[in-house]
Amino acid sequence: MSEIEARLAELEQLGLHRRLRLISGPQGPRVLLDGKPVLLLCSNNYLGLADHPRVREAAAEAAMRWGVGAGASRLVSGTMTIHRRLEERLAEWEGSESCVLFGSGYLANIGVIGALAGKGDTIFSDELNHASIIDGARLSKAQVVVYRHADSEHLHWCLRRHGGTGRQLIVTDAVFSMDGDIAPLQDIVELAQEHGARTIVDEAHATGLLGPGGRGAVAEAGLQGEVDVLIGTLSKSLGSYGAYVCTSAELSDYLINTARSLIFSTAPGPPAIAGALAALDLLQERPHRVERLHAAARALRGALAKEGFPIEPSEMPIVPLVVGEERDALRMCKAALSKGVFAQAIRPPTVPAGTSRLRLAAMASHTPVELRQAAKTLGEAARTLGLDPASMGSRPANRPRRPEEEDVDQQEPAMDAPFDIEREIRIRRAA
Ligand SMILES: Cc1ncc(COP(=O)(O)O)c(C=O)c1O
Repeated sequence: MSEIEARLAELEQLGLHRRLRLISGPQGPRVLLDGKPVLLLCSNNYLGLADHPRVREAAAEAAMRWGVGAGASRLVSGTMTIHRRLEERLAEWEGSESCVLFGSGYLANIGVIGALAGKGDTIFSDELNHASIIDGARLSKAQVVVYRHADSEHLHWCLRRHGGTGRQLIVTDAVFSMDGDIAPLQDIVELAQEHGARTIVDEAHATGLLGPGGRGAVAEAGLQGEVDVLIGTLSKSLGSYGAYVCTSAELSDYLINTARSLIFSTAPGPPAIAGALAALDLLQERPHRVERLHAAARALRGALAKEGFPIEPSEMPIVPLVVGEERDALRMCKAALSKGVFAQAIRPPTVPAGTSRLRLAAMASHTPVELRQAAKTLGEAARTLGLDPASMGSRPANRPRRPEEEDVDQQEPAMDAPFDIEREIRIRRAA
């Protein structure tokens, strides 16, 4: 057996093996998954814009007018008029001085964090931040201090304890991708100001979900202009691919000169940019789409609560059903799939060990009837497997706390972001 075969077998045995499933057609509410019709309940196409006719047409027209690829990095031959147009529109929409497009949200986080922190600097990072933030922090070579999830008190403690002489950077998801809860942005901004730290807020799952007209969590909290760098992606509510960074003109200039993932990667292609522009037009012309998403979220949450899942009423479309063990999450995913509902099982290293889950995502294009049916299917799936829906709390507070998390004043923060697959394997081998 080769080393790779052995590692794949180990992942399989640990319930951590992943495979790509084949979807035919666009990311609509119903898809053909590996040839079988199912309700899609795990796509980030929240507003249903990825498959909207106007977005498709705009992308097709852009392909005819500007071609498909951008040809090179933004700095070499890649900044085209359509890139500039979207940057101007996004800056205006987010109320920021300037905007710079990146190839993806992952690339934006890696590039921006690496540009704003390095050796001798300190990054304060929420323990449930997205992998792209974790990787950006690691690559930067700065000291990384991980504070407890959405815990401003702990962040304050960490800033006092570890705020050194170099640059200080606080980085957080605005809406946490796997839990759907919102970062305490007001506290974070105040703490940053008190400690002379810069702030980066990643709005990947907040754009289109929160704020006036779907502008995001920073706008919802009335903090526009208070956050140093706002990162958004075009790939979720805006239905396309690519990302944007809204910040001051000075910082934009700095990023163009220092963000390696911008400098050394080809610019996003014109069809993706034109698609995002059309999506933004639609969002601005018809903001009721955000209300439809909220209504779908309420319908899904209400129906899940009726099935006995401890789901709180809210308008957030991300709904985690925290099953616990990897294998149980996989079994539940399979059981729901066999009844026509696709809700992907999310396992370590995407989420902490012991918190494997089905991460549900309602879309504006789902009907209440579809969502009620899906909730019923999920309830039946759990009961058929002997799992209790009442134990599948969605709140991160329901996660088992690690012993070192007991007391803020007496415990050290983790000094590096924890989640990666090698680490998960080591932990399980040791157990
Ligand atoms: C919080 C967060 N940031 C960044 C990203 C990466 O964005 P993209 O898919 O555009 O690379 C994601 C993707 O899921 C995310 O959840």
